[in-house]
Amino acid sequence: MTTALLYGSVRTARQGIKAVLYFQQQLKDRGHKVNFIDPLESPLPLLDKMYKEYKSNDAPEMMEKIASQLREADGFVVVTGEYNHGIPPALKNMLDHFQKEYFFKPSAIVSYSAGRFGGVRSAVHLRVVLAELGTPSIPTMQPIPKVGQAFTDEGKPNEDYINKSSKRFLDEYEWYLNAMKAQREQGLPY
Ligand SMILES: Cc1cc2nc3c(=O)[nH]c(=O)nc-3n(C[C@H](O)[C@H](O)[C@H](O)COP(=O)(O)O)c2cc1C
Repeated sequence: MTTALLYGSVRTARQGIKAVLYFQQQLKDRGHKVNFIDPLESPLPLLDKMYKEYKSNDAPEMMEKIASQLREADGFVVVTGEYNHGIPPALKNMLDHFQKEYFFKPSAIVSYSAGRFGGVRSAVHLRVVLAELGTPSIPTMQPIPKVGQAFTDEGKPNEDYINKSSKRFLDEYEWYLNAMKAQREQGLPY
């Protein structure tokens, strides 16, 4: 299984990277190939033309690279912060560049914030966006309050609940990954 791990903060002092490192390791431990798509390392311009609007082999190199990382994926784990109750702009910008690369594959939402609510308002916002993109999100979400203290800088959990809830969350994600992969192999409706 290949999972594209998507993150949306490009802030110098970004904290969500700790949650990303944690989920990257969890997915690897489960045998996934992880394609980490980081808008800081793989920047795209503010949306002008979507990937699909370029003629073949004509898209900018960075867009082509991200497209192939998404295309290869069987599903997506999206790690979102909460900026004014919405998703970070770099995440939305990256998501919007692509379309059929997401189709008929599941997604799973990890949200976080500095405060007590774990970014759940942005998670609800992200769920609507992912549905429109053709990658329905699994029912369980993984919210992480006080993200700066919840992990070490290397992404090791400081809170007991994290391993327990992420196990259930990723078990559920893998169930949908397997189900949708099997169904994709039977053909697509369009
Ligand atoms: C522009 C901006 C808006 C924010 N809005 C919220 C918010 O609506 N709710 C919240 O819980 N935290 C909010 N925060 C605090 C973030 O949860 C916290 O800074 C978090 O570390 C941001 O993620 P990042 O460090 O990965 O960029 C906001 C932070 C920024 C920079």
